[in-house]
Amino acid sequence: QSRIAVFASGQGSNFAALMDAQKEGNLGGGRIELLVSDKPEAPVAQRAKDAGIPTLLLRPKDFASRELYEAEIVAELQRLKIGLIVLAGYMRLITPVLLTPYSGRIINIHPSLLPAFAGKDAIGQALDYGVKLTGVTVHFVDGGMDTGPVIAQRCIAVEDNDTVDLLSKRIHKVEYELYPEVVGAFAAGRISLDGRKTIVREK
Ligand code: GAR
Repeated sequence: QSRIAVFASGQGSNFAALMDAQKEGNLGGGRIELLVSDKPEAPVAQRAKDAGIPTLLLRPKDFASRELYEAEIVAELQRLKIGLIVLAGYMRLITPVLLTPYSGRIINIHPSLLPAFAGKDAIGQALDYGVKLTGVTVHFVDGGMDTGPVIAQRCIAVEDNDTVDLLSKRIHKVEYELYPEVVGAFAAGRISLDGRKTIVREK
């Protein structure tokens, strides 16, 4: 559980926060061994290369099916003995090809208080709805869209005249603290899962 693969499709600022936590010894003994991206040109891929982290950059459209794409990823994860998959802005649904061998060992961060505003553009959805509170959720991944058991949540107030940009910045700040905490707890074996109920034991 301490050998980690991060999956990301975009900027990779959460990937960077996880790397920083690891450097500072704040990742529960977890080690990021691989960056997987479905977008080889994404900034996160360059960040990983700069940090000397091995990358697996595959374009799903180069494969005949989503399953074949994921089978190639699973082979690499198994070769590297990865025990935890951390989704950090990985914008794809996961199929049973990846879920079955890694059941209970895939976590995701989502920029809303789930089950509100699942899916894409959660921050825009929250602003459009007009909620006064939103936040960040870290959860186990199952076959649905942002539906797996919740591990941790943090609230963030929506201000009058908030914008996607302003609210995103505040949400990101919380993510950079919360995700390393949860990944570290998992790596240290402090998270248990019983049905939909998760328990994070204190250090
Ligand atoms: C993060 O805010 C994460 O919560 C969100 O993508 C962003 C990635 O930013 N994830 C989702 O919306 C998943 N549905 P980053 O690439 O800078 O880490």
